[in-house]
Amino acid sequence: MKTEILKIEDITKDAALIEKAGKTLREGGLVAVPTETVYGLAANALDPAAVKNIFEAKGRPSDNPLIVHVADKSGAERLFEKTDERFDALAEKFWPGPLTVIMKKSDIVPDITSGGLDTIAVRCPSHPVANAIIRAAGVPIAAPSANTSGKPSPTTAQHVADDLSGKIDLIVDGGKCEIGVESTVITLATQPPRLLRPGKITPEELQEILPDLIIDNAVFSELASGEKAQSPGMKYKHYAPEAEVVLLRGSLENAVKYINKYGNAESVAVCFSGEKNNFDIPAVEYGLENDGLSLASNLFYVLRKVDDLGFSRAFVRCPKPVGLGLAVYNRLLRSAAFHVVDVDKRLPVIGLTGPTGAGKSTVAKYFVENGFYLIDGDILAREAVKNSVVLANLAKEFGQDIINEDGSLNRRLTADRAFATPEKTKALNAITHPAITALTYIEITRADRSDSKGVIIDAAALLQSPIINMCDMLVCVIAPKEERVQRIVERDGITVEQALTRINAQKPEQYYIDNTDYMISNAKGEDFHAKADEILAQALK
Ligand code: TXA
Ligand code: MG
Repeated sequence: MKTEILKIEDITKDAALIEKAGKTLREGGLVAVPTETVYGLAANALDPAAVKNIFEAKGRPSDNPLIVHVADKSGAERLFEKTDERFDALAEKFWPGPLTVIMKKSDIVPDITSGGLDTIAVRCPSHPVANAIIRAAGVPIAAPSANTSGKPSPTTAQHVADDLSGKIDLIVDGGKCEIGVESTVITLATQPPRLLRPGKITPEELQEILPDLIIDNAVFSELASGEKAQSPGMKYKHYAPEAEVVLLRGSLENAVKYINKYGNAESVAVCFSGEKNNFDIPAVEYGLENDGLSLASNLFYVLRKVDDLGFSRAFVRCPKPVGLGLAVYNRLLRSAAFHVVDVDKRLPVIGLTGPTGAGKSTVAKYFVENGFYLIDGDILAREAVKNSVVLANLAKEFGQDIINEDGSLNRRLTADRAFATPEKTKALNAITHPAITALTYIEITRADRSDSKGVIIDAAALLQSPIINMCDMLVCVIAPKEERVQRIVERDGITVEQALTRINAQKPEQYYIDNTDYMISNAKGEDFHAKADEILAQALK
């Protein structure tokens, strides 16, 4: 098959080209279409034979469902089994645009389009060429990214031609895609709704409409064997150039040291703008460190470039996983098949948490006896509230009278107010956590320079704090509630009632068990040392 390329210079003047693309789709052909995210490989979503050709051209596994593209919200409604107010609000706010919504599908959607699932993913692209082609076709358009399955997604017509020339009817060239990474994918078919793939529309923006939205595990981590993928596409090695990708998390200084040590003539550094002269090996820049859009829009372009230049290994500087950076990080994790090196860090970091009174400090002490450097969350919290900005914000939240005459914090009064309700506890955390996190970082750096074997962070609120990202391993200590009440009463000299208020302000025991890697049971008469030894051995491996 000869693949024809149609270049759109001006959408108002090129109506005949748009009509040609629409007609090709209506008649069952395959057309690569520019969107604001990446190029899509389009076919009539309601025509099983046409959709089958998409899977063949891409070499895509048949259980990986496609996204159906519509020209407006009403085009989406007939693809879903039922209406949903949450969908209405999302479409109102984010469409046309880079958000894909999954719900139960209606009978008109063929099984092949949904990869055999009873749900369907739908999005309404904002790119004027995509929108015009969908209207011209007059049918909903199934379109995965227009790359060979597993390769980086295409952000130019040339990328599409490199992968699919000879396998598809048309490529519509609408220039370089603006966003450069695929749409945000969420599903409303699970309870609570989940973010399956990060993109330009961030979780924070979505939470305004979906306050209970959670981020699926697959966004950050490799699926454990046997675990069922919520989004089939996330289980495959993906977005990968021929070259091996190694993701380097950490400072520029240490990335330079690492790359200059391990790089050779066949490797290239992929770094942020302005950094390339630091390296002894060739380097390409992929965007500004603090500008997610600039990184996203060049990411796939640069990954393809690495292959074009003939390198067999790319060391890539890891973006901060915030805003659009989260999407870039998510794609890079897969390009690297989860090979991430933490260049700043030498020592293993264990995060130790658990409900109050369970005996965390006793366990932490045992790790210290075994050569670990202790970072005590309570001490850092005390340190953090000496910061004048933190103090001022606490006074604003909990009342001026929590400040003592000498300017220090009345901790008892603050604790009473902050632990009175879950909302108040959350407010306390929001004020103090950033300062505590910064102090923790400094402490880890200090530990790295000591001759300790590892770091143990003892922190009750660990799981709700960004410190969790600094830990290699999470451990909780638990004990029966009655024993915990008893311990707190004795330790802090408070009443049983006060102890219960504090305990009830915290998450239930199961929360700690569910969100950590290891559990140490520290009930009276039980010996925790064997379990602690097992964890020590694992950490030092
Ligand atoms: O920006 C985009 O979304 C681009 C452009 C072309 O619109 N399209 C795109 O499609 O990225 P694709 O097929 O490369 O990625 C679709 C992702 C896959 O990870 C797939 O597994 C997931 O969405 N997906 C599709 N339907 C699903 C469903 N019913 N349930 C769960 N995941 C689904
Ligand atoms: Mg894709």
